[in-house]
Amino acid sequence: MSDPNDLAAFLNDAWQLLRRGVADSRSPARYPTFATVSPAGVPEARTVALRRASQEEAVVEAHTDIVTPKVTALRASPIAALHIWIPKSNLQIRLTTRVEILSGEGVEDAWAKVPPSSRVSYGTVPDPGTPIEHVHAYDKPPERDRFAVLRCMIDHIDLVHLGDRHRRAEYARHDNWVGNWRAP
Ligand SMILES: Cc1cc2nc3c(=O)[nH]c(=O)nc-3n(C[C@H](O)[C@H](O)[C@H](O)COP(=O)(O)O)c2cc1C
Repeated sequence: MSDPNDLAAFLNDAWQLLRRGVADSRSPARYPTFATVSPAGVPEARTVALRRASQEEAVVEAHTDIVTPKVTALRASPIAALHIWIPKSNLQIRLTTRVEILSGEGVEDAWAKVPPSSRVSYGTVPDPGTPIEHVHAYDKPPERDRFAVLRCMIDHIDLVHLGDRHRRAEYARHDNWVGNWRAP
């Protein structure tokens, strides 16, 4: 970690770890918890894989099957929180985001980069979450039309670093990511 008093460096460290999550499947940042609000107002959380992280755009992306309940939730409330704990860095990253659901022609490039072995994650029959008669009573054909990119536009970042003296900072898009220290 860099200078502990430097808000910008603290934020840059977090972004570096997010980028590592995209590049390295062994990084804990690869698998954020992705939380949404169901149409009934119930919080729902699940693991997703981090597929893109752009500090310039303040955007992170995940991929999903468009018929999953999380997409139903996002259609009703297009907001999500992402949570990541990185043990080696003693860092918790929390992101508050607005989510755009991209599918169809607009995700052709992203689909082309999905390895064939992973394409089966998009197309489960029956739809994910449907009750089934037996443990393996489902099929997983790759269905390009079911592939969706969840583009999460970050509005707010909360970082907590555990050290001899803990550090917590908050950053907001509307504040141009300048940030401020908070009591941890
Ligand atoms: C390690 C791991 C990675 C996962 N990655 C994704 C992912 O990138 N996208 C996704 O939609 N589901 C992913 N899942 C499955 C979800 O956690 C979840 O079970 C599934 O998407 C259904 O969620 P929903 O019913 O809340 O929509 C992953 C699960 C695990 C355990």
